Amino acid sequence: MKNSADELRRGFHRYFEQHEHRSIPSSPLIPQADPTLLFTNAGMNQFKRVFLGEESRAYRRAVTVQKCLRAGGKHNDLENVGYTRRHHTFFEMLGNFSFGDYFKADAISFAWEFLTKSVGLDRSRLWVTIYREDDEADELWRKIGVSPSRIMRFGEKDNFWQMADTGPCGPCSEIHFDQGTAVPGDDTPNATGDRVIEIWNLVFMQYNRDAAGTLHPLPKPSIDTGMGLERLAAVAQGVYSNYDSDLFTPLLAAISRRAGIAYGGKEETDRSMRVIADHLRAVTFLMTDGVLPSNEGRGYVLRRIVRRAARHGRLLGIVEPFLHELTATVVENMGEAYPELKSAAGTVTEATRGEEERFIATLDQGLPILTDMVDKTRAAGRTVLTGVDVFKLYDTYGFPLDLIGEACREQGLTMDEEGFDHAIEEQRNRARKTGGFEQETARPGVTDLAGQVGATKFVGYDRLESDSVLLAILKDDRIVKEAAEGDEVEVVLDVTPFYAEGGGQVGDQGVLLGLEGRLDVKDTTRPAPSLILHKGTVSKGRIKQGESLRVQVNGTIRQDAARNHTATHLVHAALRDLLGPHVKQYGSLVAPNRLRFDFAHFRPLSSRDIDEIETTVNGEIRNNEAVRTEVMSIQDAVANGALAFFGDKYGEQVRVVTVESFSKELCGGTHCRHTGEIGLFRIVSETGVAAGVRRIEAQTGSGAMAMWRKLEAEVRELSDLLKVGQPELVSKTRKLMTQLKDKERELEELKLKIASGSSVASTVKTVAGVSVHVQRADGMDMGGLRALADQIRDKLRSGVVALGAATDDGKVALLVVVTKDLSARIKAGDLIKVMAAEVGGTGGGRPEMAQAGGKDPAKLDRALEMVFDLVERAQQR
Ligand code: ALA
Repeated sequence: MKNSADELRRGFHRYFEQHEHRSIPSSPLIPQADPTLLFTNAGMNQFKRVFLGEESRAYRRAVTVQKCLRAGGKHNDLENVGYTRRHHTFFEMLGNFSFGDYFKADAISFAWEFLTKSVGLDRSRLWVTIYREDDEADELWRKIGVSPSRIMRFGEKDNFWQMADTGPCGPCSEIHFDQGTAVPGDDTPNATGDRVIEIWNLVFMQYNRDAAGTLHPLPKPSIDTGMGLERLAAVAQGVYSNYDSDLFTPLLAAISRRAGIAYGGKEETDRSMRVIADHLRAVTFLMTDGVLPSNEGRGYVLRRIVRRAARHGRLLGIVEPFLHELTATVVENMGEAYPELKSAAGTVTEATRGEEERFIATLDQGLPILTDMVDKTRAAGRTVLTGVDVFKLYDTYGFPLDLIGEACREQGLTMDEEGFDHAIEEQRNRARKTGGFEQETARPGVTDLAGQVGATKFVGYDRLESDSVLLAILKDDRIVKEAAEGDEVEVVLDVTPFYAEGGGQVGDQGVLLGLEGRLDVKDTTRPAPSLILHKGTVSKGRIKQGESLRVQVNGTIRQDAARNHTATHLVHAALRDLLGPHVKQYGSLVAPNRLRFDFAHFRPLSSRDIDEIETTVNGEIRNNEAVRTEVMSIQDAVANGALAFFGDKYGEQVRVVTVESFSKELCGGTHCRHTGEIGLFRIVSETGVAAGVRRIEAQTGSGAMAMWRKLEAEVRELSDLLKVGQPELVSKTRKLMTQLKDKERELEELKLKIASGSSVASTVKTVAGVSVHVQRADGMDMGGLRALADQIRDKLRSGVVALGAATDDGKVALLVVVTKDLSARIKAGDLIKVMAAEVGGTGGGRPEMAQAGGKDPAKLDRALEMVFDLVERAQQR
């Protein structure tokens, strides 16, 4: 198809390549060079530093088709998606860039030529907008042949683009397209309605805005342009909705098939199908780039997208998980342009299904409650769902807020957001009071200190000792001049080798020695960026503010922590190698005696996986690789492939820890110099801590050794106890377990005997040469009687057993067993008939065994008595 989305993508690259632009692949949706950005939201993101002049590239012109996502964070279109024909979460941005090369004139002529010649848009439909003062752009557009009547000027809001509050920015010029009278709205740009829509934004990067807001001309004016592929495709294909372009029609067809509802019918069902189509793309692309559903950051945005799509599935009548199947349609349609989709397809399907299932569980529980709340609200003549109700749905039933809002909107209600905020605030207060999850609030003493003393210089990466000046002492949260034996204090030094807790690694321990005393440090913390507190007890004499101290970190503990820290990096890298790049670190604890590593993954590790991780890490240890640390700019670190994560706060300068060709991470912690120092690595456990989050606990060095020793001691003790050598431990244990089971069974039988024997004494008589055992066992049911009869028969070998019980429900159970040698003459069935009649019941059975029920327990003894007579008569026949 001419102007198919595939064509447009290819054509865009081709056109700009022909004009000396370098084709650069889309960067991932997770911004690699900018940990402060939630998602990639514009083509220029990956070139941010080039525009800022902080980085230079081998090329000065570039062209990209960039994956973008606008949901969560500042640019959030999520709520609009489905309700309009133009909003998307995921979209593709076509862009051409000049880094100090060409400027306005070429940018304008490239754009015009591409749209009117390559794509072939009708130029009489095009409008151009320019910045209020930009006469130069006005001139250039006219020169190219645009009629002055089609050029409009706008202010900052529409025609001045800036990346952020500070940084490169400039006037922009947009090209708009008039879709004609078929679409409601005004016939000029930036007016009401959808009739005239913006398709391409050309930004003339011309200034650098400083913190005071002043604009300084950039030495090299640059170009940044952005054109949404979805809109271009719709316009170029002559349809009025992005969803009617070939980017969406195959998806909508698949959704419509799955729902059994045609697209293009009712507005509500169309809307739901649009939501699902849009969200399926976002979900597939996000998961492919390594995001998994979770309760924070990017994962939470993804979770909301999946859940919103799932709920619209329900509105279409689809109650089972279905989104995961449809992700395949996205891969099918876009896998050519984005090959990464194909390799991640399996993961995407699985992770989507997992999230759908979790959501269904949530909905099953909460939907009836939501419906009930809505009904009651309306019945009471109110139009607002109370904050308390909203909070309950949110807190107790796990409903995302936007979902509640949308459900309200559909029912013509609004929700009381203020009331909800209030309820949340109250809950926070409660949590604070009960010492819940809130962080300890800043202590006044610490705040005072931070203002009074200068920054502590940390020297502990290279050494464990220093001579330092005691700058301040904090006791009971107050600043004091000195502290004496027994006092628990926190002290600040001018210089310290003590590592303060951070990045998951616990704080150092050690001693501070003064002329008159000694402080044993048990922990080191960093409550403010420049303040390091050494916390401990004065174990001797006294220490005074201003005195000089000899400072010593406990090297053994520090080295053990370093082993665990370096091992943590190895585990992280090994996990990513084995399971994929979605394995994102969620949290970690690095202590001297153990390490804990939480990471995103959607199912438990198999024991094979665990073995493999252990083997890989131990392999790296035996390779004894050097562990290198370097300080560099965050941008260089990320450009070098160091792992950095959104949500972590990084300064301008970061420390990068590298294990050559295996692991590279931003990290401020202390590490081994060579991996061999770790000694030994052993995984203790692998468990789940939250949906989609797994936890590995492990030990290294002496900890792993201690664990190994302990295991060995236990094995030795076992073999002593069982009195066999270690090789026979397992077979001996099996044997013992079998024996134990046999004993248990015997014990059960014995109990049975005792129980039954105690109700009525059994009577055993020999009648006409036949042993007859009669016993009453009240409370037993037929099964119990049969078990008892089996035992007695085995003992008798030859004879007749008659058992009866008054059952718990006030009836009678009777059982007669005749051993095989006698059953030709004495038939159990014959006996039981007579006995049953006595207790008002009926019964029957085989010659060797018969059973009966009866109604009259009072006659049970008599019925049992009868058996002696009956046997005698049978023998005489
Ligand atoms: N960076 C510009 C935009 O996002 C082109 O619209």
